Amino acid sequence: MRALVCVTGCIAAYKACEIVRLLQKSDVDVKVCMTEHATHFVGPTTFRALTHHKVAVGLFDDPEDPIHHISLAQWADIVLVAPATANILAKMAHGIADDLMSTTLLATRAPILIAPAMNAGMWDAAATQDNVRILEQRGVHMVQPDAGYLACGEVAAGRLAEPSRIAQAALDLLRGDLDLSGEHILITAGGTREPIDPVRYIGNRSSGKMGVALADQAARSGATVTLVLGPSTAPIPHSVNVIHVETAEQMRTAACEAFDGCTVAICAAAVADYTPRNPADHKLKKSVEHLDCIELVETRDILAELSASKEDRVVIGFAAETNDVVAYATRKLATKGCDAIVANDVSRPDSGFGSDTDQAWWVGTSGAEELPCLEKTELARIILQRAFDLRHARHAGVSHEA
Ligand code: CTP
Repeated sequence: MRALVCVTGCIAAYKACEIVRLLQKSDVDVKVCMTEHATHFVGPTTFRALTHHKVAVGLFDDPEDPIHHISLAQWADIVLVAPATANILAKMAHGIADDLMSTTLLATRAPILIAPAMNAGMWDAAATQDNVRILEQRGVHMVQPDAGYLACGEVAAGRLAEPSRIAQAALDLLRGDLDLSGEHILITAGGTREPIDPVRYIGNRSSGKMGVALADQAARSGATVTLVLGPSTAPIPHSVNVIHVETAEQMRTAACEAFDGCTVAICAAAVADYTPRNPADHKLKKSVEHLDCIELVETRDILAELSASKEDRVVIGFAAETNDVVAYATRKLATKGCDAIVANDVSRPDSGFGSDTDQAWWVGTSGAEELPCLEKTELARIILQRAFDLRHARHAGVSHEA
């Protein structure tokens, strides 16, 4: 997980050091961006020593990175502005982008968390309160300032909230409402390619998006994630250990090796069922003789193999069907021996290969439940929640049904 901590010019700037430390203790990789004014309160060297990253201050400071605001904006899983002055709140509310921090804040698609700190008069000012309202309406998250003794001598609202409260709010946002810290999840994703010759292969339409969404959500929730990924164009999340594979057999080897240290495995890959027995080592020339001569052999079923050795681990499979979805998924649940199957109808335009949404059924030992059509990120969260409910029930020794 990656957090960009933006420090603005305020007497509470020194407290950002503690916030950085607290995030690092929770395995968050932290970079710091400072306004020019902030550097009058705390030196960039302090943050550089804490984070082991260059501290970003000026738009043109880094000759190696000429579009620094974009790379910072894209790097972060969350952007935390602490302390946030009235000035940065005003710039954010009105889209002013005139330095590295404000351009980065405008460019980022990551969630933003602000922790305001300022004199009580500035905090109470109608302009500041309007700006805060605008930001909250746009989905910016906030840790309210505390009331207390302020640097100006007043005792009132405006003091930066406790660093522990700010760091916790950032961690909650990074992890969502699922806390999977300490868990290790194996995910298979994407399609496989079975070589016919050095140029051609047998493949399928899987985009890998569902498996990658699962990996992303699991990593955001604090889990260690091993993603065994076949060819896929889905952007790979940070903080995920990716093993790239191409064939079903490579996927099987990587998945079986990674399974040992895992608590949960989710097989979302579209694995080829058959592979050419003897792929040619040279390009086959066009010939009618080849029409009959590509002999296929069955691949080994990774999901069934993991399920057979799962012991107290939870193993979830997928079923991509075009008809009789629940009936086929129920059969797969029994034959593969996994704990549940997520089944979807890939003939639907909102649920097919490459779509960003999925309409799925959760098929467990007690039956099938139809889920609404959801964004893959949201479906991923539900699948993880259910997988870990099963795991916790199993661990607690409670008899349960999927
Ligand atoms: N699977 C696997 N290894 C294989 C084949 C499938 O791990 N060699 C897993 C998939 O990752 C998925 C589940 O099994 O979790 C179901 O895959 P699917 O292709 O739908 O089912 P198949 O068993 O291949 O059956 P069919 O193609 O006849 O529907």
